[in-house]
Amino acid sequence: MKLSGGSARVNALMAQMSLGEKLGQISMLADGLVETGPPGPHNPFNMIVDGRVGSLLNVWGAHLVREAQRRAVEESRLGVPLFFGLDVVHGHKSIHPVPIAEAGSFDRQLWEATARDSAIEAMADGVHMTFAPMIDVARDARWGRIVETAGEDPLVNAEFGRARVRGYQARDEKGIMRLAACAKHFCAYGAVVSGRDYAEADVSWRGLEEIYLPPFRACVDEGVAAIMPAFIDVAGMAMTGHKRLLRDMLRARWRFDGLIVSDYNAIAELINHGVAADAPEAAALALNAGVDIDMMSDAYFNGLPIALERGLVSMDEIDMAVRRVLNFKEQIGLFDDPYRNMAPSASKEEIPKTLAPERRALSRQAAQRSIVLLKNEGALLPLKAPRSLAVLGPLADAPNDQLGPWASAGDGQDAVTILAGLRETYAQADVRFAKGAPFEGRDEDELEAARKALAGADAIILCIGESRMMSGEALSRTKPEIPAGQLELARMALESGAPVVLAINSGRPLVLPDWLVEGAHAILAAWHAGTEAGPALAAILSGACNPSARLAITWPRTTGQMPLFYGLRPSGRPHDPQNTWTTGYYDCPFDPCWSFGQGLSYTRFARANLRVDRDALDLDDLVSVSVDVTNIGTCEGVETIFLFSRDPVAQVTRPMLELRDFTKVALRQGETRTVVFVVKVRDLCYLDEDRKPRLDDGAIQFHVGASARREDLERIDVVIAQG
Ligand code: NOJ
Repeated sequence: MKLSGGSARVNALMAQMSLGEKLGQISMLADGLVETGPPGPHNPFNMIVDGRVGSLLNVWGAHLVREAQRRAVEESRLGVPLFFGLDVVHGHKSIHPVPIAEAGSFDRQLWEATARDSAIEAMADGVHMTFAPMIDVARDARWGRIVETAGEDPLVNAEFGRARVRGYQARDEKGIMRLAACAKHFCAYGAVVSGRDYAEADVSWRGLEEIYLPPFRACVDEGVAAIMPAFIDVAGMAMTGHKRLLRDMLRARWRFDGLIVSDYNAIAELINHGVAADAPEAAALALNAGVDIDMMSDAYFNGLPIALERGLVSMDEIDMAVRRVLNFKEQIGLFDDPYRNMAPSASKEEIPKTLAPERRALSRQAAQRSIVLLKNEGALLPLKAPRSLAVLGPLADAPNDQLGPWASAGDGQDAVTILAGLRETYAQADVRFAKGAPFEGRDEDELEAARKALAGADAIILCIGESRMMSGEALSRTKPEIPAGQLELARMALESGAPVVLAINSGRPLVLPDWLVEGAHAILAAWHAGTEAGPALAAILSGACNPSARLAITWPRTTGQMPLFYGLRPSGRPHDPQNTWTTGYYDCPFDPCWSFGQGLSYTRFARANLRVDRDALDLDDLVSVSVDVTNIGTCEGVETIFLFSRDPVAQVTRPMLELRDFTKVALRQGETRTVVFVVKVRDLCYLDEDRKPRLDDGAIQFHVGASARREDLERIDVVIAQG
C-alpha cells in the first residue's frame, strides 16, 4: 500500500483537524470483547464522539461495529470513520489449525486459502485489519508464542507470510482488499532469551539479516498493509523506537509505505525499557522512528502535545502519521462506505453463512494436512475395524481447547471433538471414553474411570498435551512437557498391553519421556487443529486420509537442548559420539527426537536420479535441481521434498543446511514424478564481513530429500566459476 500521498478529500480533512483530532486518528484503543493485554482506563465507545480514537481493536460483530461506526460518522465533529482491528490468526469463526501446525502442511495454497477464508468471515463481522501473519522465526519451545509462528525456518516463515498476505488481502468484488494484514513482530521476537516472553533478544546483524528479517522482507514485497514492531529490545535497542530498523531499513531501504502499528501499550513501555523518561519522550521516540499508530498506550494522545512543545517532534511527523491513517481508511473504502460489510447495509451475499459445510470442509482439510504422523510401529495405523476403542485424555473431548490460543471469534460449540469424530468414524465399534486426568494435577476417580474404559480395548487413543491456556502470549514454560498427571495416565495405558496411539495436542513440541516415545505404538503431533480437529484425526487414524504433514519445527528430546534447530553452523569439533572432545552433551544424545521435516505416510516413497542441468555456474545463472520420486508403497500418498544447500568453504562459517525450496507431490501407488527446483545462483550468496553479498568460486552442495535428517537426504554438487 502506498499511504504517504493524499487525495483532495484527505487534504481537506487534514486542513480542518485540530491537534487533538489528529492525535485521535493515530490512537487505537481496545474494547473488551476479548482481552489481549492489560485493560486500560478507557471506555472507547464514549471517546469516539470526541474524535479521540481513530481505530478500535478487540471488537467485532456487525451490531457492535455498526454502532461504533455510527458514533464516529454521525456524531463526531468531522465524521471520520473508524477502522477495526483484531487478531485473526488462524481463522475467525471457522478455526483452522494453529500456525505452527498448518505450517507443517508445507502447502502454500492451503496457507493462502485458510487466510482468504478467515478474511471472508472476519470482514462480515466488520473487521478491517488482522494483526497477522506472525512470522517470527522461533526455535525455542519454551516460548509460548511459538504456536503462532511458522516454525524455525526463515524461508518457511517468508513463504507462509507471503501466502497469508495474499489470502487476507485478496480483493472483494468491489476490488477492495478484504482484510488488511499486519505482519508482526518486527523483529527477532522469537529470539527472546531463555524463551521468556517479553524478554530481550541479543541478535547479531548477521542473525537479523539471515534469519529474522527475510520473512518481513517477503511480506513487504507481497504488499502487506501494515507492520507491527516487537515489544522487545534487540541488542539494546527497543524495537518500538528503533530508528535504524524501522525508518532506515523498513521505510527507506525496503520502501515500505504502509502503516506501522505499535504493539499493545508498547510505546508507553519504552519508559520501562529505560529509553524514555516519560510519555512525551516515549511518544517522540516511536513517532520519530516511524510508528504511525499507538495501540492502547495513550502516549501519542497525551504525550505528543508536550513533545511538540519540547521540540522533540515536528508537526510534519505527526501529520505524516495522520495522513497514512486517513489514506488507509480511504483506500479500504471507508470514506465511501463507512458501514462496509456491517449488516444490515451489507448485501446478503457478502455475509457468509459461517460454519457452512464448505467452511468446515476447508478447516477439516487444513487439519488433515497439518497432523503429523511421527511413529507407526508395526503399521498399527490405519486402524481399520477395531471392535473396541478406549479414548482417553483431557483433550479427547475438549471443544474449546482444540481451537488453541488466538481463536478469534471461534466458538467451542461449533467444534467437533476427537471423541465425536471417532464415534462417527468407528460407528460399529464400542468407543469408550474417560478423561483419565485433568490438564494439570491428578484425579483418582478419573484415573479409575480410565482403567475401566481401557479394559479389553483393542486399541487406546491417548489424547494428552496442553490446554489452550498453556501456550500463546505470556505463556512461556520452563518445562514444556506433558504434565505429570497426564503422564500417569499414559503409563497406565501402556501397561494395559493394548496398542497405544498417542495423539499429542499442543501448541508447541512437547518434551516426551523416553519410555513414552518407545512404548507408544503410534505417535501423532495432533496440535490444536481447530474446529474440525476430531473428524480430521479420525480420518487419519482410520486411513480415510493418508497423513502428509511434516514438522516445521525440530522436536527436542529435552528442554536443555533448546533453542534447537537444524540450520546449525559447523563446529570446529563436529559431534562424534565416540570422541569426548567434540560438541554435544554428556547427558543427552546430540540429535533431536524428530527433525525438521520429519513425518510419516501410510505409503513409502523412493527418490532416484538426483541431477542438475548444469554443473558449472556463474552468478546470473539459473540451475535446475531435479529428482524422481516414486510411490513404492501400497496406497496413494503425498510426499514433501526439501531442497537445501550448503556452501562448504566461504569467508565466514555457513550453516550446514539452508532451506532453498520445498514442494509436495501427490503420487498414486507405483507412480513416479519428477520434482524440479529452479534456483537462482545469486540467491546462494552470503553476506561477507562488509555486509556485501558474495559467492566464492568452488563447490556448492545441494541436499535434496524428505527432511533435514542426514539419512533422508542425497547430495549433488555444482561448481561456481565466475568469470
Ligand atoms: C499483543 C500481542 O503481542 C500482539 O501480537 C497482538 O496483536 C496485540 N496484543 C493485540 O491483541
